[in-house]
Amino acid sequence: MGELAPAKPKVMKNIVAGNWKSNKLMPEALELMNEVQAGLDSIQNTEVIIAPPSPYLAALAENKKGALAISAQQCSATGMGAHTGEHTAEMLKSTGAEWVIIGHSERRERFGESNEAVRSKLELALEAGLHVLLCCGESLSNRESGNHFDWVQSQLEDALQNVSDQAFDQVVIAYEPIWAIGTGKTASSDQAQEMHAFIRNWLSKRYGDVSAAACRILYGGSCKPSNADELFAQPDVNGGLIGGASLNAEDFLAIVRAAEAQD
Ligand code: PGA
Repeated sequence: MGELAPAKPKVMKNIVAGNWKSNKLMPEALELMNEVQAGLDSIQNTEVIIAPPSPYLAALAENKKGALAISAQQCSATGMGAHTGEHTAEMLKSTGAEWVIIGHSERRERFGESNEAVRSKLELALEAGLHVLLCCGESLSNRESGNHFDWVQSQLEDALQNVSDQAFDQVVIAYEPIWAIGTGKTASSDQAQEMHAFIRNWLSKRYGDVSAAACRILYGGSCKPSNADELFAQPDVNGGLIGGASLNAEDFLAIVRAAEAQD
């Protein structure tokens, strides 16, 4: 009998990223990371990322094992210099973090982060060699007025204005409808797929079909073990950005397994 044909090469892995937001004290963060790591032995085809609060990045990066990656939750819109309290992208990278979340709606809404600031943060993060989880998503009023596609498109157009084809390889998009974040109200899998397909189509026009097909587009907003399967089964959903459910290792790992089961 001849040799078996090699398995079809996998173009891209799903990603499950946990955004811990402003939760956990240092020892609890370490404990949660260890619990998550302990459940990743059999995970092969899913990239798993945790985004702890910034003060813990270096310690977690130092103590992590295996393929788990560490992300910051945001970075400064400025470079090094006299900017009291700011953490530049290069500083975050030097802690051992490999990723940064940019443009989360909580930063945009509660901390007045403008499109311009998002663009600057994204560009500085890419220059520093970080991978970026770029968030976009509409409010409930945007969706109810039927403006959600235009809204998301303009957020992406704005953020990616100066990002070259090559630099775009380091970008993952997270679609997070604001009305679904932390509300327990999830977008239906059809709503998620519809927006993800729209985003991929826009990316095709901006970066070409190959880059658009290779770009991971994550869903975020009340994603949990009970709905992850259905969301991740959608053809244009390549995993999730998880808030509340990432604070409990068991729930987070169940979501990771749901992503893994899609491969
Ligand atoms: P949630 O948050 O899962 O708690 O809705 C998602 C996010 O804000 O990234």
